[in-house]
Amino acid sequence: MNHAAFQQCINPACRATYGIDEVRVSCAKCDSLLDILYDWTKLPVPKNLSYFEHRWSTKGTGVTGRLDFSGVWRFREMLPFYNSEDDIVTIGEGRTVLQQADLLGRQLGMKPGNLLLQYEGLNPSGSFKDNGMTAAFTHAKMVGAKKVACASTGNTSASLAVFAAFAEMKGVVFIGTGKISFGKLSQALDYGALTIQIKGDFDACLRRIRHIAVDMPELGIYLMNSVNPFRLEGQKSIMFRILEARDWQSPDWIVVPGGNLGNCSAFGKAFAELKELGLIKKIPRLAVINASGANTLNTLYNQYNLRWNDGNFDPTTIQRLYAGMDEANYHPNTVASAIEISRPVNLPKALRALHVMDGVVREVTDDEILEHRAMVARWGFGCEPASGASVAGMHKLMEEGVIGRDETVVCILTGHELKDPNVTVKYHTGVDMKTVQDMAPREEPHGKLSNKPVAVEDDLEAILKAIGA
Ligand code: F0G
Repeated sequence: MNHAAFQQCINPACRATYGIDEVRVSCAKCDSLLDILYDWTKLPVPKNLSYFEHRWSTKGTGVTGRLDFSGVWRFREMLPFYNSEDDIVTIGEGRTVLQQADLLGRQLGMKPGNLLLQYEGLNPSGSFKDNGMTAAFTHAKMVGAKKVACASTGNTSASLAVFAAFAEMKGVVFIGTGKISFGKLSQALDYGALTIQIKGDFDACLRRIRHIAVDMPELGIYLMNSVNPFRLEGQKSIMFRILEARDWQSPDWIVVPGGNLGNCSAFGKAFAELKELGLIKKIPRLAVINASGANTLNTLYNQYNLRWNDGNFDPTTIQRLYAGMDEANYHPNTVASAIEISRPVNLPKALRALHVMDGVVREVTDDEILEHRAMVARWGFGCEPASGASVAGMHKLMEEGVIGRDETVVCILTGHELKDPNVTVKYHTGVDMKTVQDMAPREEPHGKLSNKPVAVEDDLEAILKAIGA
């Protein structure tokens, strides 16, 4: 048992703690989100970040070579929640690239060296999710989970499916009838996950799977969405790799698309910890970019002025917005299907990250997303639409003068260009191949490994039957 790591409620008025071997996605006392925290005094903390460089020469060799090979676990001293290194489930995730994007920067009026793109689409399943999934699967293995599940706009399901296959666990993914791109759906099916399409959007799917995983423990389903605090521990490594690629110097800005707000939350935690440990001098500023068709964070942050306020943020503001959405029967709608989310579960942690990193929030239209995605493809090496939002948002912030022309900006490209080729083809040709909104099979599939998706009503009994519970 790891005695230096524990789970803690993020609500400062509560701060209840839980053991690292407990399976929780919220506080039992006040229902707030949980953090994974460490008693650093009991742990071997590196004296400076260059310590990690010795792992470049040991990757793939010796007992820990498989960990040194991973872009997440070569920083394992920064996420030491596991009991033993044997617990760690890795598929070689996080070997991604920070590109100095001078050609694209020139188009946007930036000086050479000032625009950098962090290509998280180069992960094994093609998105940043693998950084978090390796950590959550490690925890799932520690607690003996056999079944894992998530709701997803596509990338989480692809990542869960590949890790479940490697870890020999049963993977169940819930996708909604919003949009899912063919690239992502094909991965979940190929990697063998039970794929269930519920008649409802992402937010409805997440509510269902959360209920099934949390309130029905007898089913033994381990929840892999980013409410799972272990996911975020792995996603911190995206920031470590950016620092590594820059000789351990912080950039001025990190710009990231916001959906369920797990990624930006993880970034805030990474920098808060690095600062606390004296491993960096400067914390970069954070910009979180919503799509206009799914702009909950932007509305709350910029219209309602909602702030972290040392954890004492006003929940009624959020409840009011959500009640209004219900009343209007509002459903998010954006070409960036990955971030088509209107009730981001990590909202409080995102507010905290915005506080830690002196952050800003913006929204960008679908047209801005499409144009900037195409620019990344033309002058970089491509990304999916949601990732284009980060470049579009950065452009907007530069035109507003919030990001200075002399500042160094890292835009996170969260998913691979080939995740959503339909959007690309439509952009260039006008031909709309559609994303998958109804995947009830039109004819019986007959491949030896055909993994038929299951379409069900948004009804608990029907869903449990589909899972085989
Ligand atoms: N970019 C891509 C490509 C994504 O797939 C997601 C989230 C985000 C950005 C937003 O990240 O949720 O941490 O704010 N996709 C999830 C999914 C929700 O189900 O694949 P976030």
